[in-house]
Amino acid sequence: MFDVTKYRDETKGVNNVLHFNNAGASLPPDIVHNTMVQHLEREREIGGYEAKAEAAQRLDQFYPEVAKLIGAKPAEIAFIENATRAWDMAFYSLPLKAGDEIITIEAEYASNYLAYLQAAKHKGVIIKVAPNDASGQVDVAALEKLITKHTKLISITHVPSQGGLINPAAEVGKIAKAHGILYLLDACQSVGQLKIDVNEIGCDMLSATGRKFLRGPRGTGFLYVREELANRLEPVFIDLHTAEWQDGNIYELAKGAIRFENWECFFAGKLGLIEAAKYANSIGSQNIANQNAMLSDYLRKSLAKINGVHLADLGVNKSAIVTFYKDGISPELCHAKLRAQNINVSVSPSSYARLDLGSRKIDSLIRSSIHYYNTEEEIETFCKAVTEL
Ligand SMILES: Cc1ncc(COP(=O)(O)O)c(C=O)c1O
Repeated sequence: MFDVTKYRDETKGVNNVLHFNNAGASLPPDIVHNTMVQHLEREREIGGYEAKAEAAQRLDQFYPEVAKLIGAKPAEIAFIENATRAWDMAFYSLPLKAGDEIITIEAEYASNYLAYLQAAKHKGVIIKVAPNDASGQVDVAALEKLITKHTKLISITHVPSQGGLINPAAEVGKIAKAHGILYLLDACQSVGQLKIDVNEIGCDMLSATGRKFLRGPRGTGFLYVREELANRLEPVFIDLHTAEWQDGNIYELAKGAIRFENWECFFAGKLGLIEAAKYANSIGSQNIANQNAMLSDYLRKSLAKINGVHLADLGVNKSAIVTFYKDGISPELCHAKLRAQNINVSVSPSSYARLDLGSRKIDSLIRSSIHYYNTEEEIETFCKAVTEL
């Protein structure tokens, strides 16, 4: 039995809002909030460095707890302030040069694509975009055909920000492995929502955020880098947390993924993220994924019955992100009208996904994103509100 009542009792926010904006930021469980507040209180009472020293053993739990969540080793995890910077630390640390090719996808996250454009402009790297198949997910066979001896990176988004698609990350991983090409996975929307195992997926690097489906604090995230790769990659930035200045001209990098971290960080947030990872681990990623599949299926079916509502999700396997638009009313106005009723969704504009929404001639979409602590009753209330818009 999936104990929704318990999870709701442990989430203060469900008493105030109908929250279908988990792809923006989930409502955190109370333990995440309380842990952060307690640490901030200690910083106020005894000083920031002293509070950190006091919490040292608990802070060390970050690495095994997050590693457990994605089937990694503790030495393969770095705490970074958000998914974008985590991804950047991996991407900008790769020794790419003119003529090297990157393969990505149509549904790639905008900030990642901007980084490819920058690498193309400044380094002469070549961007290749694998097309979608008929269902709208990446066409894995077509992706493989793009590989040449110059391909240095396959870099894709697992669950896009702007739609309910789940890309076949493990199938892409098999291809990357077969051709000996590095594979970077943006798992920002999938960690905490789906069962993620880096070994099953076969990625070399993976970035994720704290605040979305993992239900952690804002301003937190993490990076996974396969241990052997972490130990041979020179991070784009280093500091005295990640490298030791041994002599006048000599420095030695820290071992493992820690070398991608920052010296200064949001320790209250790190403690909060440990609690979020523990919370997810205690429920079990597969249980969470099953509940999300059941709820999002119910939401899609219910929305499909509403006059004038058009579902916009692509792909074979669908995520807990449910996107749609309604005839005669803009997504922006829908968002505002729902917010006025304490119903939270967000809007995905095409500027966030030029290749995806742009090619489908969609200006923007309503993004409703459920999570395991939502209920069927909430879905019914939501659909009633959408009908009345
Ligand atoms: C697919 C995807 N990747 C990366 C990000 C960036 O995450 P963050 O805001 O934590 O940097 C987002 C945020 O919406 C996202 O949806």
